[in-house]
Amino acid sequence: METLKNEIIRLKKEKNAVILAHYYQMDEIQEIADIRGDSLALAIEASKLDAEIIVFCGVKFMAETAKVVSPNKKVLIPVIDATCPLADTADKESVLNKKKELGDVAVVSYVNTNVDVKTVSDICCTSANAVNVVKSLKEKRILFVPDRNLGDYVAGEVKDKEIILWNGACPVHEAYDIEQLYDLKNKYPDAAVAVHPESPRAIREAADFIGSTSGIINFVGNSSSKRFIIGTEEGILFELKRNNPDKEFYIIGSRSVCTNMKKITLNDLYLSLKEERFEIKLDKKTIEEAKKPIERMISIKRNQ
Ligand code: 13P
Ligand code: SF4
Repeated sequence: METLKNEIIRLKKEKNAVILAHYYQMDEIQEIADIRGDSLALAIEASKLDAEIIVFCGVKFMAETAKVVSPNKKVLIPVIDATCPLADTADKESVLNKKKELGDVAVVSYVNTNVDVKTVSDICCTSANAVNVVKSLKEKRILFVPDRNLGDYVAGEVKDKEIILWNGACPVHEAYDIEQLYDLKNKYPDAAVAVHPESPRAIREAADFIGSTSGIINFVGNSSSKRFIIGTEEGILFELKRNNPDKEFYIIGSRSVCTNMKKITLNDLYLSLKEERFEIKLDKKTIEEAKKPIERMISIKRNQ
């Protein structure tokens, strides 16, 4: 393991590469990464880096976003089939058909979409800025693609707009059951509850805080509570425990795992750097078309 880590560090320097990792990655990947973050932070970082190679430890839509904002860099993802099943619930043609059927709507696509969907979107958002993104639009009718839970959360926060929901959901957050949350609340009545907006409405309504992964990390860091019930993928515990060694964390349902986020191992990361695989390749037109909604999203500030 140490040799593998040393090799990764050596190759990274030799090739002028930067490793970005999402908070849901395995601990050893987050540990060796140069930058950890939520989807929005990683997209912004990718647009600013001056490295020659970006190795993106996350899922494919995140690496594609990095390529769009940094088209002149080589963007690698260590495992090519680390995809997001939520993103796969929408494709370009169905979004265009829905838009045609609805008439005058703005298409807001969650960054958890494949790049072809972004090319037909007015603006992207992440869970960190979705509310502000929707508020920033002049249009009163919004087609929100693809997460119906995040869209429902936004609709609750932006009452003067009609939010038309796509019927997609994240299997990891959708699996939370309100009874599991009540059990934890009964066991730890003093615990504060922080959940991701991809969680179903009943879970969100029982929470003290709703926000992106970095929103949850900031909430926990600033809270005087000692115990927390967390409603998001358990990779977040790496950062939470690191920043708050004196606090306790309980994940809804006791485990919550995104199998795609967990596909990347240290060995995959090593091979990715060594063999410069797997490169994200997008054609010029796709990059140009997807860049507009992504850059528009980056210009909108975070909800919290
Ligand atoms: P964040 O944007 O909050 O980091 O979440 C990404 C994600 O995939 C949630 O399931
Ligand atoms: Fe996609 Fe859900 Fe995994 Fe996030 S946690 S990458 S939304 S499947």
